[in-house]
Amino acid sequence: MAEDKPHIRGVGLTKYFGGVLALNAVSLEFFPGHVVALVGDNGAGKSTLVKILSGIHQPDAGEIWVGDTQLTHLSPHRARAYGIETVYQHLSLCDNLDAAANVMLGQEPVRLRIGPFRVIDKVRSVEEARRRISEVGVSLDDFSKPVRSLSGGQRQAVAIARAMVNAHRLIMFDEPTAALGVRQTKATLDLVRRVADQGVAVILISHNLDDVFAVADRVVALRLGQVMLDKPFKSTTREEVVACMTGLSFRSQTPQ
Ligand SMILES: Nc1ncnc2c1ncn2[C@@H]1O[C@H](COP(=O)(O)OP(=O)(O)OP(=O)(O)O)[C@@H](O)[C@H]1O
Ligand SMILES: [Mg+2]
Repeated sequence: MAEDKPHIRGVGLTKYFGGVLALNAVSLEFFPGHVVALVGDNGAGKSTLVKILSGIHQPDAGEIWVGDTQLTHLSPHRARAYGIETVYQHLSLCDNLDAAANVMLGQEPVRLRIGPFRVIDKVRSVEEARRRISEVGVSLDDFSKPVRSLSGGQRQAVAIARAMVNAHRLIMFDEPTAALGVRQTKATLDLVRRVADQGVAVILISHNLDDVFAVADRVVALRLGQVMLDKPFKSTTREEVVACMTGLSFRSQTPQ
C-alpha cells in the first residue's frame, strides 16, 4: 500500500508561544498507508505539530510540503481542501443532530435550489452517510438518533467517518482513545488501521504505548519540542521509546 513519496512533509517546523519553544525545528515525513504514532510527555509539542499541519497555528519557521507544492499560510479551510483532517479527543460533533447529519454537515446532497435556498435531499444524505460510516467498518442500527445518545465508540466512528469525507491525504488523531474503554479502544485502533489501509497517511497521538505498538508503522517521540526518535516500530522497543520521551539515558543497540 505504501508508496515511495510522502504525502506530507514538514521541514524545520518551529513554533514559539511567547517565550516557550513548543516545536524546535521538527522535520518529518508522512507516507500514504502508514500510521505514525506521535508520542511524548505532556507539553512535548504533539498537539502543536498537529495544529500546524491542520492550519490552526502558523509556524514561526519551517515549511510544509504536499508533494512538490509548498503550503504557505495554511488555514483550516485550505488544509481541508488539500485533504488534511483532524479528529480531536473532544469530538466536535453536534450532539443534537443525528449521525447522518453530522457526517454530511455542510455537504448534504441538494434536491432543489431556489435562489439562495437549498432543499436537502434527506434520503440520499442518509444513504451516503450510511455508506461512509460502514466504510470505516461500523454499523449503526439507527441513523435518526441524536449522536448524544450514542456510545463513545459509535461517536468516534461518526467523527472519523466525517473526517474521512475529505481526508484523502492525511488524517490526524489527537488522543482518540483517551476517554474510551478497552473494547472501544480496540475498535478505534482497528478503524485507524483501516483508514490507513485506504491509502491515507495517518498520525496517531497516544499516551498509551499499547495502542502505539498495536497499530503504528513508525514511532516518533517528541521531547521539549524536538524529535528524539523516528523509527519503524519494528526496529525500536518500548524501553527506547520511553527513554526518548523522558530523556532518561538509554543506549540503543540498533544502528539508526
Ligand atoms: N495556545 C497556546 N498558547 C500558549 N502556549 C501553548 C499553546 N499551545 C501549546 N502551548 C505550549 O506549548 C508546549 C507544547 O504544547 P502541546 O499542547 O503541543 O503539547 P502536547 O505534546 O500535545 O501535550 P499533551 O500530551 O499534554 O497534550 C507546552 O509548553 C504548552 O504549554
Ligand atoms: Mg496535546
